[in-house]
This record gives sequence, structure tokens and C-alpha cells, in this order.
Amino acid sequence: MAPEESAEAAPLLRSFERRFLAARALSSFPWQSLEEKLRDSSGSELLLDILQKPSGDSVTLSESTAIISHGTTGLVTWNAALYLAEWAMENPAGFAHRTVLELGSGAGLTGLAICKMCRPRAYVFSDCHSHVLEQLQGNILLNGLSLEPNVAAVAQHLGHDTADAESPRVTVARVDWDVVTVPQLAAFQPDIVIAADVLYCPETVLSLVGVLQKLSACQKDQRAPDAYIAFTIRNPETCQLFTTELGRAGIPWEEVPSHDQKLFPYEEHSEMAILKLML
Ligand SMILES: C[S@@+](CC[C@H](N)C(=O)[O-])C[C@H]1O[C@@H](n2cnc3c(N)ncnc32)[C@H](O)[C@@H]1O
Repeated sequence: MAPEESAEAAPLLRSFERRFLAARALSSFPWQSLEEKLRDSSGSELLLDILQKPSGDSVTLSESTAIISHGTTGLVTWNAALYLAEWAMENPAGFAHRTVLELGSGAGLTGLAICKMCRPRAYVFSDCHSHVLEQLQGNILLNGLSLEPNVAAVAQHLGHDTADAESPRVTVARVDWDVVTVPQLAAFQPDIVIAADVLYCPETVLSLVGVLQKLSACQKDQRAPDAYIAFTIRNPETCQLFTTELGRAGIPWEEVPSHDQKLFPYEEHSEMAILKLML
């Protein structure tokens, strides 16, 4: 392709790459623009570029096609999961050789991306819903990670692992924010707690702040974990309730600056944020 042709094709290439990385349905790919471009170009370089574009490691997921099924929102990947995964991949040092506890993991995209790209020492996926936990376990195995049966097995291995062990120790735990206790949370020994798209109604906001308060009592090396909560700003009142409740619980927070690396095609219609909480 001539240099001017390749500059013109760049947005088309980017569009294919981002839709591919976001595992979007094939019908959403810009086939018509591709057809028009191919009619005007003499060679097959554009097609080759598209086929070679997606690079690096990949995450494979089995998910539902419905936003809500089996009475849960956790069987599909939500936008904030993609946003948090992007931010983590841009900041891998914050996760390297650390133990991560994820709350409300859903289908598992964020955690799988972190396990593959950020070299955590251990990763605890969690959720409260049986179908979600079942799908989560399947998705972890689908991505070639081995599962420890429980957190005790993870802790047992941690003492023996070298800092540059290839794969993180991974487990899935049933954690219901309303009933989990401080000792149960402390057993995960988290350095970092993360959650994506868990602020969708006032009840979940109150439950989430409750579990964060319990986590603030979980000291490791004399400090509580840092927490990062990513969400889509759908309803400003729900977000306001979250920050008000954090204030009431005595949990300071700051907004994480938005990151540069946009891999996934969601920005046209949603506004996203990540809050860092000092538990
Ligand atoms: C909207 S989904 C988000 C899933 C995933 N983090 C994502 O962004 O794709 C919310 C998740 O939070 C979980 N959840 C809601 N309330 C919960 C609670 N009280 N305890 C534990 N998990 C809860 C749901 O089961 C669901 O998987």
C-alpha cells in the first residue's frame, strides 16, 4: 500500500482491531467500508494488515447473550470490566507479584486479562451467584489457567513460589458482600481489591460499601488493601450515593485519571470512571 493509502486505511484497521479484541459479533465489523476500500485498492495488503493486526495474548469467554439471565447481571461482560482491564494493562506494575481479590467478577474478563498481562502472584475471582460462579470457573479453564480448589490451597503454594512464577495462583470463591465476614475476607490476604460495574442500584451500593468496610479491617503487613472500583456513569444519583456512603464509612477516595489505551469500542455511548479507595 502507498503511504497515503495506508494512512487512509488506518481508521478501518483500528476499527477491526478493536472490534476483534472486544469479541464483538461479526455483524458489527465495518464490512461495507472494507468492501469499498478493497474495490479501490490494487493489492491484498489491506486484508493482510487486518488479519495480522490483533496481536498479543487473547481472552476467550463463554457468556450469555442476554443482559439479565437466571436472575443475574453477571453472565455477560459489562463495559466497566473492559475499561478496568484496559487500565490494568496500562498499569501492570500495580498488580505484579501481588494478590488480587475481585468482587462481583461476573464472566471474568477483567481478571483473565490481569492474570495474562499483569503477572499477579495470586488472583481470587469472586461472586455470589451459582450460575455466575459456574461460568466463571469454565472461563478460567478455557483460558488455560489452572484452578486451586480454595484459598487455603492458594496460600499454601504462595510461600513456595518464586517471584517470577509463570502463572498466578487462581481460585474462585463464593463471596456474598452481605454475609461474608472479616476473617473470611482476611483469609484471601489481598493486596488489591477490584470491582467493575457493581454500582447499578442503591441496594448494591450499600452492600458494596459494607464489604469495603469489612475489607478495611483486613490488614496485611500492617496495611489494608487498596481498592479500585470501575463503573459506568449511568445514573449520577447512584454514583453520588456511592461517594456519600464512602464518606459516611470514613473511606477516602480519589478519581483515577482516565487512561490513554483504548482497546475496546464503547466510548461512543458511555462515560466511565475508576475510583481508588484508601481502605
Ligand atoms: C453488572 S455485573 C458485573 C460483572 C463484571 N464485573 C463485569 O463488569 O462484567 C454485577 C456482578 O456483581 C455481582 N453481585 C451483585 N451483588 C452482589 C453481592 N451482594 N455479593 C456478591 N456479588 C454480587 C453479580 O452477581 C454480578 O456478577
